[in-house]
Order: sequence, then structure tokens, then C-alpha cells
Amino acid sequence: MEPISTTLHICHSVKPKVKGAPGCGHLGAAELLETCQREINLRGWQDQVKAQPGACMRNCEHGVTVRVLHDLTLYGPVQPSDLPEILDSHIGNHQPVKRLQSTPGGFW
Ligand code: FES
Repeated sequence: MEPISTTLHICHSVKPKVKGAPGCGHLGAAELLETCQREINLRGWQDQVKAQPGACMRNCEHGVTVRVLHDLTLYGPVQPSDLPEILDSHIGNHQPVKRLQSTPGGFW
């Protein structure tokens, strides 16, 4: 099965919109982005799948938050060790990873 062509936005905000949350930028967002890019490259998906830093998605209490752009699925909190499952299941096999999905408290 071909991977979904999409972009993963990884929240890098240090100014969370949900009061009392630390902000994903303080919770390892940079490491998560680096790992995500490495995992995409390992699969040879560089032409179809991008990983980019993103702004706050009002899911701050579940950070680090990752949004899959093509269907707006939100994941969080995401650890680097979760990325292979997200990439293989959601992007590779078109099956979102329900155990990692989160519902934001904001406007989505
Ligand atoms: S700071 Fe990451 S979702 Fe708000």
C-alpha cells in the first residue's frame, strides 16, 4: 500500500493556548521532529511525507501534539517511540492509531 501523501505538523509552541500547560516546545518537540524526519527517511517516503514544526493546536494538555494534515487527526502526547507505529499504521496502512489520538479542548 502506498503511504498517504501528507504533512505531519509537530507542535513547537512555547506559548500554549491552554492555560496551565507547559507548551509542546518545552516537552521534547524538537527531538520528536528530528526522529520523525529520520523515520520518514528510513521508509524512503521523503517525496510523499513531510514533517514540519507547527503552532499550538489547542491540545496543549496532551502535548507533544502531532497533527496529520490530510485528515486533521491529532495525536498526543506523542513520544519518539510512538512514531514508528503512527507512520506504519496511519500513513502506511491508512489506519489511525486510536490509542494515541486525543481530543483537544479548543476550537477544532
Ligand atoms: S502548545 Fe502544543 S498544542 Fe498547544
